[in-house]
Amino acid sequence: MDRFVIEGGTPLRGAVQIGGAKNSALPILVATLLTDEPCTVENVPSTLRDLRTTFRLLESLGKKVSVDGSTVRVTSTGSLKTQAPYDIVKQMRASVLAAGPLLARFGLVRVPIPGGCAIGLRPIDIHLKGFEAMGARRIADQGDIIMSAPRLRAAAVKLRFPSVGATQNLMMAAAAVEGRTVIKNAAREPEMEDLGRFLERMGAKVTGAGSSTVAVEGRAKLKGCRHKVIYDRIEAGTYLLACAAARGKIRLLGAEVRHLGAVISALKKAGAKINSGRGFIEISMDRRPKPVPIVTRPYPGFPTDLQAPWMACMALSTGFSKVTETVFENRFLHAAELGRMGAQIAVSGRSAVVAGQERLSGAPIMASDIRAGAALLIAALAAQGRTTLQRVYHIDRGYEFLVEKLSGLGARVERLL
Ligand code: EPZ
Repeated sequence: MDRFVIEGGTPLRGAVQIGGAKNSALPILVATLLTDEPCTVENVPSTLRDLRTTFRLLESLGKKVSVDGSTVRVTSTGSLKTQAPYDIVKQMRASVLAAGPLLARFGLVRVPIPGGCAIGLRPIDIHLKGFEAMGARRIADQGDIIMSAPRLRAAAVKLRFPSVGATQNLMMAAAAVEGRTVIKNAAREPEMEDLGRFLERMGAKVTGAGSSTVAVEGRAKLKGCRHKVIYDRIEAGTYLLACAAARGKIRLLGAEVRHLGAVISALKKAGAKINSGRGFIEISMDRRPKPVPIVTRPYPGFPTDLQAPWMACMALSTGFSKVTETVFENRFLHAAELGRMGAQIAVSGRSAVVAGQERLSGAPIMASDIRAGAALLIAALAAQGRTTLQRVYHIDRGYEFLVEKLSGLGARVERLL
C-alpha cells in the first residue's frame, strides 16, 4: 500500500493550480444519465479514485466514458440499466446520486442500503422522503431499497436538513420531470449552483440553485451539453491551511475567496495575511497561528471538510481553541493520530479543545478518511522531523497530483510503494 514520507519544517513558497471540484464533478457526471445525447464535462479531476469509480458506475449502467486529461465525454451505448452493481456502490457513497436520474427516467431504481462509514452513519432518508414527495413508493427493502414511480411528478419538498446529496438528487430527478419542483431548505454549497448550470444547459429551467429555495422546471427530454466544472474549494482550503501551519507564502491559482468566506475569515483572525484578486488567492504566514474557535455548519458556514485540516493548524497555535463539528457525528478520528505527533487535543462529544503546542514532531501515522488524511499531511508538513503517513489511498480519493503540487511549493514529500 502506498505511503507518504514527509520531512517537515519547510515553509511553503510558490504557486499551485487548484483543480476542478471533485464534489461538483461527481453529481454532474451522474446527471449525464438524464440524457441519451453526448455530454462533455471539462475540468474534471479525472485521475482521482472517486472519479474513476464514477466512470465505472456510469459504464456499468450502460454509458461509454472517454477521458482525455481533464475532459470527460459521456455517450450512450443503448439502453440504460436501473440497478448499479453493489461492488461499485459500496466503494463510493456518492453512487446514491444515480437514484434521482434513474428514477425519473425509468420509474424504478434499486439502491443498496448504505452502511455507516468512518465519519458517521450517513443515512439517505432525506433523499428517499424527497422522492416520496414526488410520487415514488418504496416497494421493497431486501438489503437494497427498491423505489418505484411509474410517473414521478413535480412537487414542493422541504428538507429536514440541507443535505448536499439529497438536494442534488432531487434537482436531477426534477430536471427530467415536467412541471415545477421546489426544494426548500436546500443545500447552498457552490456545487449546487454548478449542477444547476449543467441542468440548465441540458434544457431544464433552474432558479435559486445555491440558495435555500431551488426551483426546477423539468422537461421530459433533456439534451446533451458541454460544461466546465468549478474549482475545488476544499482542495484550495487545504493548501491555505497547509501554509498557515507550515508557514511561508503561496498563491492559489484558479480559486476565489467568495467560496471560502468562513475559512478566510478564520485564517485572518489566526494572523494569516490574505491577498486575493480575480482567479487567485494568496496567503502568507510568518508565525504560529493565534487560536480561533470554529463550528462547522452547512455552507456558507465553516465546511466540515476543512474541520480536520483546521484542527491540525490549531495544534500549533499559541493558545486554546475549540473545534465543534455539527454536520457529521464522528469526524474526530484524526485527533488521536495528531496526538502521536505531539498535539494536545481533548475530544468530548461533538467538540474538541486543542491546546496549541510550540512544535509537533514527525511520527508514523495513519489516515482514516480523506480529510483526516489531509489534516495529518498538514501536521507532517509543519512538524519537525520525518513522518510516515500510511493509508494514503484515502487522500488519493480527493487530492489530485498532491505530491507534485506540494513538491512544487518546496515541501519535501515522497510517495513510496
Ligand atoms: C457531501 O456529502 C460531500 N460529498 C461530503 O464530502 C461533505 O462532507 C458533505 O457533503 C457535507 O458538506 C460529496 O459531495 C460527494 P450531506 P453528503 O447529505 O452529500 C446527514 C468529502 O470529503 N444526512 O449534506 O453525503 C448525514 O448523515 C466528502 O469529499 C441524513 O441524516 O452530505 C450527515 O450527518 C466526505 N440523511 C449530514 O446530513 C440524509 O438523507 C450531511 O450530509 C442525508 C444526510
